[in-house]
Amino acid sequence: MTTIAPSRAQNLKLATADVHNNIDKSIMVKDPFANTQNYIQFLTLQYYFLNDVAALYEHSELNMIIEDLPTRRRLSMLEQDFCDVEHPIPHTSFTPLISNDTDLATALGWLYVVEGSKVGAAMLGKQAQARLQLTKEHGAHYLAGPGAGRGSAWRHLVQLIDDIELNDLQERALINGARQAFTRFQLFQAHVYS
Ligand code: HEM
Repeated sequence: MTTIAPSRAQNLKLATADVHNNIDKSIMVKDPFANTQNYIQFLTLQYYFLNDVAALYEHSELNMIIEDLPTRRRLSMLEQDFCDVEHPIPHTSFTPLISNDTDLATALGWLYVVEGSKVGAAMLGKQAQARLQLTKEHGAHYLAGPGAGRGSAWRHLVQLIDDIELNDLQERALINGARQAFTRFQLFQAHVYS
């Protein structure tokens, strides 16, 4: 019997499964769709994160290998959601860790995490609709927006991660980048729910 070795993207998923699991549980324990106030806290957390990683979507090297990168941004959808629930856009004073100078492999690791968060978003969007009557037209642009779920944009990114040529150093940078991104999200969780 032949066993097929996990692809690079599958390895990335395995290498971050512990922290993803922790984040998923700690978000749900806060019951983000119980009422509008909880939902605003949830949106605030997402805003801190997306605002912090904004430079990824303008990263020159990433833009060279991912054609539709600018259209994958969701910050404006979040801003629209704050507007819909009549809450001001949060003010953040954290200095981002990502910039255009971040090396390609590290940046790709971060992007895997930010884009991967859309996979779970589709599921959460359904809860926002069922419990708070928020839709992709009102209040849940971010959760129900384009790319939520396992659409072609996600499959394309996974394929790219699998196919890109990386040396050993870059292989490590990819995983470290992804873990850094999850850790960064945890920092914002601690901040928003302190
Ligand atoms: C309550 C919140 C969340 C839930 C319920 C959730 C749920 C999920 C689910 C069901 C998947 C598909 C897993 C699979 O195919 O086995 C997934 C994938 C993923 N999620 Fe989450 N997620 C949440 C939050 C997040 C956040 C905040 C991030 C990033 C900071 C994130 C990053 C990812 C990534 C990178 C993947 C792709 C895994 C892969 O297939 O390689 N998730 N999520």
